[in-house]
Amino acid sequence: MKNEIIARFSNVSKIYKIKRLYSARKSVALKNFSFDIKRGEIIGLLGLNGAGKTTIMKLLAGLIFPDFGEILIGGIKPILSEAKQKIGFLPELPYFYPHMTCLEILTYYAKLSGLKGFKEEVNKIIEKVGLTEHVSKKISEYSKGMMQRLGLAQAILHEPELLILDEPVSGLDPLAIHEVRNLIAGINKDGTTVFLSSHSISELEKICHRVIILSRGEIVKTVLSDAWKIAGGLEEIFIDSIKGNNDENRLITVH
Ligand SMILES: Nc1ncnc2c1ncn2[C@@H]1O[C@H](COP(=O)(O)OP(=O)(O)O)[C@@H](O)[C@H]1O
Ligand SMILES: [Mg+2]
Repeated sequence: MKNEIIARFSNVSKIYKIKRLYSARKSVALKNFSFDIKRGEIIGLLGLNGAGKTTIMKLLAGLIFPDFGEILIGGIKPILSEAKQKIGFLPELPYFYPHMTCLEILTYYAKLSGLKGFKEEVNKIIEKVGLTEHVSKKISEYSKGMMQRLGLAQAILHEPELLILDEPVSGLDPLAIHEVRNLIAGINKDGTTVFLSSHSISELEKICHRVIILSRGEIVKTVLSDAWKIAGGLEEIFIDSIKGNNDENRLITVH
Protein backbone atom coordinates (compact mmCIF):
# COMPACT_ATOMS: atom_id res chain seq x y z
CA MET A 1 0.00 0.00 0.00
CA LYS A 2 1.38 3.40 -0.95
CA ASN A 3 2.06 5.86 1.87
CA GLU A 4 1.31 3.21 4.50
CA ILE A 5 2.96 4.25 7.76
CA ILE A 6 5.18 1.52 9.17
CA ALA A 7 6.56 3.42 12.19
CA ARG A 8 5.66 6.67 13.90
CA PHE A 9 7.33 8.98 16.44
CA SER A 10 4.82 11.36 18.09
CA ASN A 11 6.26 14.27 20.10
CA VAL A 12 9.10 12.18 21.47
CA SER A 13 11.60 13.67 23.91
CA LYS A 14 14.56 11.88 25.43
CA ILE A 15 16.54 13.29 28.33
CA TYR A 16 19.66 11.51 29.58
CA LYS A 17 20.46 11.90 33.26
CA ILE A 18 24.16 12.17 34.03
CA LYS A 19 24.88 11.55 37.70
CA ARG A 20 27.96 13.01 39.40
CA LEU A 21 29.06 12.63 43.01
CA TYR A 22 27.49 15.88 44.27
CA SER A 23 25.30 16.95 41.36
CA ALA A 24 23.31 15.69 38.43
CA ARG A 25 22.85 17.01 34.95
CA LYS A 26 20.35 16.36 32.24
CA SER A 27 21.17 16.22 28.58
CA VAL A 28 18.24 16.76 26.23
CA ALA A 29 19.04 14.40 23.35
CA LEU A 30 15.67 14.69 21.53
CA LYS A 31 13.11 17.45 21.66
CA ASN A 32 9.50 16.96 20.63
CA PHE A 33 10.47 14.74 17.73
CA SER A 34 7.69 13.65 15.34
CA PHE A 35 7.98 11.80 12.06
CA ASP A 36 6.66 8.83 10.08
CA ILE A 37 8.45 6.08 8.20
CA LYS A 38 6.52 4.94 5.13
CA ARG A 39 6.51 1.39 3.84
CA GLY A 40 8.98 0.78 1.01
CA GLU A 41 11.11 3.90 1.39
CA ILE A 42 14.79 4.36 2.22
CA ILE A 43 14.78 7.19 4.71
CA GLY A 44 17.95 8.77 6.05
CA LEU A 45 18.72 10.59 9.26
CA LEU A 46 21.44 13.17 8.72
CA GLY A 47 23.13 15.09 11.52
CA LEU A 48 26.46 16.01 13.03
CA ASN A 49 27.97 13.92 15.81
CA GLY A 50 25.80 14.28 18.90
CA ALA A 51 22.70 15.35 16.91
CA GLY A 52 20.64 12.48 18.35
CA LYS A 53 20.75 9.86 15.57
CA THR A 54 21.74 6.87 17.71
CA THR A 55 19.19 7.89 20.34
CA ILE A 56 16.41 7.74 17.71
CA MET A 57 17.60 4.35 16.43
CA LYS A 58 17.78 2.88 19.95
CA LEU A 59 14.30 4.23 20.78
CA LEU A 60 12.90 2.62 17.63
CA ALA A 61 14.64 -0.67 18.41
CA GLY A 62 13.09 -0.61 21.90
CA LEU A 63 16.48 -0.54 23.65
CA ILE A 64 15.78 2.75 25.46
CA PHE A 65 12.52 4.51 26.26
CA PRO A 66 11.17 8.01 25.64
CA ASP A 67 10.61 10.42 28.54
CA PHE A 68 7.71 12.02 26.68
CA GLY A 69 5.70 11.09 23.61
CA GLU A 70 5.05 7.77 21.89
CA ILE A 71 6.72 5.48 19.36
CA LEU A 72 4.74 2.87 17.45
CA ILE A 73 5.83 0.21 14.94
CA GLY A 74 2.80 -1.01 12.99
CA GLY A 75 0.69 0.37 15.84
CA ILE A 76 2.66 -1.53 18.51
CA LYS A 77 5.17 -0.28 21.10
CA PRO A 78 8.81 -1.22 20.27
CA ILE A 79 9.29 -3.09 23.57
CA LEU A 80 6.74 -5.79 22.57
CA SER A 81 7.96 -8.90 20.78
CA GLU A 82 5.40 -8.43 17.94
CA ALA A 83 7.14 -5.14 17.17
CA LYS A 84 10.61 -6.65 17.49
CA GLN A 85 9.70 -9.33 14.91
CA LYS A 86 9.03 -6.55 12.42
CA ILE A 87 12.44 -4.89 12.75
CA GLY A 88 16.08 -5.71 12.08
CA PHE A 89 18.73 -3.59 13.77
CA LEU A 90 22.38 -2.97 12.96
CA PRO A 91 23.88 -0.97 15.86
CA GLU A 92 26.57 1.67 15.43
CA LEU A 93 29.18 -0.65 16.93
CA PRO A 94 28.10 -4.24 16.32
CA TYR A 95 29.87 -6.82 18.46
CA PHE A 96 30.26 -10.51 17.76
CA TYR A 97 32.24 -13.06 19.76
CA PRO A 98 35.71 -13.06 18.15
CA HIS A 99 36.29 -16.81 18.55
CA MET A 100 33.14 -17.73 16.60
CA THR A 101 32.76 -18.08 12.83
CA CYS A 102 30.19 -16.27 10.71
CA LEU A 103 28.30 -19.54 10.20
CA GLU A 104 28.18 -20.23 13.95
CA ILE A 105 26.98 -16.72 14.73
CA LEU A 106 24.22 -16.65 12.12
CA THR A 107 23.08 -20.16 13.09
CA TYR A 108 22.88 -18.96 16.70
CA TYR A 109 20.78 -15.90 15.72
CA ALA A 110 18.57 -18.00 13.44
CA LYS A 111 17.83 -20.42 16.30
CA LEU A 112 17.18 -17.49 18.67
CA SER A 113 14.66 -16.09 16.16
CA GLY A 114 12.98 -19.51 15.98
CA LEU A 115 13.53 -19.76 12.22
CA LYS A 116 12.31 -22.98 10.67
CA GLY A 117 14.66 -24.59 8.15
CA PHE A 118 17.38 -22.31 9.51
CA LYS A 119 20.31 -24.07 7.76
CA GLU A 120 18.91 -23.16 4.36
CA GLU A 121 18.03 -19.61 5.48
CA VAL A 122 21.50 -19.02 6.93
CA ASN A 123 23.20 -20.19 3.72
CA LYS A 124 20.90 -17.99 1.64
CA ILE A 125 21.74 -14.92 3.75
CA ILE A 126 25.49 -15.64 3.71
CA GLU A 127 25.37 -15.71 -0.07
CA LYS A 128 23.24 -12.57 -0.22
CA VAL A 129 25.71 -10.52 1.86
CA GLY A 130 28.71 -11.96 0.00
CA LEU A 131 30.37 -13.83 2.88
CA THR A 132 30.40 -17.32 1.32
CA GLU A 133 34.20 -17.28 0.93
CA HIS A 134 34.72 -16.24 4.57
CA VAL A 135 32.13 -18.41 6.22
CA SER A 136 34.54 -20.49 8.27
CA LYS A 137 36.86 -17.67 9.32
CA LYS A 138 36.87 -16.56 12.92
CA ILE A 139 35.45 -13.07 13.55
CA SER A 140 38.82 -12.01 14.96
CA GLU A 141 40.14 -12.32 11.39
CA TYR A 142 37.32 -10.25 9.86
CA SER A 143 37.85 -6.82 8.29
CA LYS A 144 35.52 -3.93 9.16
CA GLY A 145 33.70 -4.42 5.83
CA MET A 146 33.15 -8.12 6.53
CA MET A 147 31.86 -7.26 10.02
CA GLN A 148 29.31 -4.82 8.54
CA ARG A 149 28.10 -7.50 6.10
CA LEU A 150 27.73 -9.93 9.00
CA GLY A 151 25.88 -7.23 10.95
CA LEU A 152 23.53 -6.76 8.00
CA ALA A 153 23.08 -10.53 7.70
CA GLN A 154 21.98 -10.87 11.35
CA ALA A 155 19.63 -7.89 10.90
CA ILE A 156 17.82 -9.34 7.84
CA LEU A 157 17.87 -13.03 8.80
CA HIS A 158 14.24 -13.07 10.00
CA GLU A 159 13.04 -11.01 6.98
CA PRO A 160 12.02 -7.87 8.90
CA GLU A 161 9.67 -5.27 7.41
CA LEU A 162 11.83 -2.43 8.70
CA LEU A 163 15.61 -2.42 8.70
CA ILE A 164 17.26 0.07 11.08
CA LEU A 165 20.92 0.80 10.30
CA ASP A 166 22.97 3.10 12.54
CA GLU A 167 25.90 4.50 10.52
CA PRO A 168 26.20 1.38 8.32
CA VAL A 169 29.16 2.59 6.23
CA SER A 170 31.09 4.53 8.87
CA GLY A 171 34.77 3.56 8.88
CA LEU A 172 34.62 1.47 5.70
CA ASP A 173 36.96 1.84 2.71
CA PRO A 174 35.48 3.09 -0.60
CA LEU A 175 35.05 -0.39 -2.09
CA ALA A 176 33.32 -1.71 1.04
CA ILE A 177 31.09 1.41 1.12
CA HIS A 178 30.09 0.75 -2.50
CA GLU A 179 29.30 -2.89 -1.76
CA VAL A 180 27.34 -2.22 1.43
CA ARG A 181 25.38 0.54 -0.36
CA ASN A 182 24.44 -1.86 -3.18
CA LEU A 183 23.46 -4.45 -0.62
CA ILE A 184 21.14 -1.99 1.17
CA ALA A 185 19.60 -0.89 -2.15
CA GLY A 186 19.01 -4.56 -3.07
CA ILE A 187 17.37 -5.32 0.29
CA ASN A 188 15.07 -2.33 -0.24
CA LYS A 189 14.21 -3.49 -3.79
CA ASP A 190 13.17 -6.82 -2.30
CA GLY A 191 10.53 -4.94 -0.30
CA THR A 192 12.20 -4.02 3.02
CA THR A 193 11.79 -0.48 4.34
CA VAL A 194 15.16 0.98 5.36
CA PHE A 195 15.85 3.63 7.98
CA LEU A 196 19.52 4.58 8.18
CA SER A 197 21.59 7.24 9.87
CA SER A 198 24.78 8.90 8.76
CA HIS A 199 26.84 12.02 9.21
CA SER A 200 27.92 11.64 5.56
CA ILE A 201 25.90 13.81 3.19
CA SER A 202 27.24 12.11 0.05
CA GLU A 203 26.31 8.69 1.38
CA LEU A 204 22.70 9.54 2.11
CA GLU A 205 22.08 11.47 -1.11
CA LYS A 206 23.17 8.45 -3.15
CA ILE A 207 20.72 6.01 -1.63
CA CYS A 208 17.80 7.74 0.14
CA HIS A 209 14.36 8.69 -1.12
CA ARG A 210 13.95 11.14 1.77
CA VAL A 211 16.31 12.64 4.35
CA ILE A 212 15.56 14.11 7.75
CA ILE A 213 18.06 16.74 8.85
CA LEU A 214 18.58 16.63 12.60
CA SER A 215 20.34 19.26 14.68
CA ARG A 216 20.69 19.31 18.45
CA GLY A 217 17.88 16.77 18.86
CA GLU A 218 15.39 18.56 16.63
CA ILE A 219 14.23 18.11 13.04
CA VAL A 220 15.28 21.18 11.11
CA LYS A 221 14.22 19.99 7.67
CA THR A 222 12.85 17.01 5.72
CA VAL A 223 14.10 16.84 2.13
CA LEU A 224 12.88 14.66 -0.74
CA SER A 225 15.41 13.29 -3.25
CA ASP A 226 13.77 15.37 -6.04
CA ALA A 227 14.59 18.55 -4.08
CA TRP A 228 18.32 17.85 -3.69
CA LYS A 229 18.56 16.63 -7.29
CA ILE A 230 17.17 20.00 -8.45
CA ALA A 231 19.43 21.88 -6.00
CA GLY A 232 22.49 19.97 -7.29
CA GLY A 233 23.10 18.16 -4.01
CA LEU A 234 22.19 17.96 -0.35
CA GLU A 235 25.20 19.81 1.08
CA GLU A 236 23.95 23.40 0.66
CA ILE A 237 20.53 22.43 2.03
CA PHE A 238 22.15 20.74 5.04
CA ILE A 239 24.52 23.59 5.88
CA ASP A 240 21.75 26.19 5.54
CA SER A 241 19.44 24.15 7.75
CA ILE A 242 21.81 23.59 10.65
CA LYS A 243 23.27 27.12 10.75
CA GLY A 244 22.13 28.93 13.86
CA ASN A 245 20.92 25.73 15.48
CA ASN A 246 24.24 24.36 16.55
CA ASP A 247 25.63 26.40 19.40
CA GLU A 248 22.97 25.88 22.01
CA ASN A 249 24.01 24.33 25.31
CA ARG A 250 21.89 21.28 25.98
CA LEU A 251 23.13 20.51 29.45
CA ILE A 252 20.89 21.55 32.31
CA THR A 253 22.10 21.35 35.93
CA VAL A 254 19.51 19.92 38.31
CA HIS A 255 19.50 19.72 42.11
N1 LIG B 1 23.95 7.27 27.64
C1 LIG B 1 24.04 8.60 27.56
N2 LIG B 1 24.15 9.36 28.66
C2 LIG B 1 24.22 10.70 28.59
N3 LIG B 1 24.18 11.40 27.44
C3 LIG B 1 24.06 10.70 26.30
C4 LIG B 1 24.00 9.28 26.29
N4 LIG B 1 23.87 8.85 25.00
C5 LIG B 1 23.89 9.97 24.24
N5 LIG B 1 24.00 11.07 25.00
C6 LIG B 1 24.00 12.46 24.53
O1 LIG B 1 22.85 12.66 23.74
C7 LIG B 1 23.16 13.44 22.59
C8 LIG B 1 22.83 12.67 21.32
O2 LIG B 1 23.71 11.56 21.22
P1 LIG B 1 23.58 10.46 20.06
O3 LIG B 1 22.16 10.04 19.94
O4 LIG B 1 24.58 9.41 20.33
O5 LIG B 1 23.99 11.32 18.76
P2 LIG B 1 24.56 10.88 17.33
O6 LIG B 1 24.28 9.43 17.14
O7 LIG B 1 23.83 11.76 16.35
O8 LIG B 1 26.03 11.16 17.32
C9 LIG B 1 24.64 13.83 22.71
O9 LIG B 1 24.71 15.09 23.32
C10 LIG B 1 25.20 12.75 23.62
O10 LIG B 1 26.30 13.23 24.36
MG1 LIG C 1 25.53 7.84 16.66
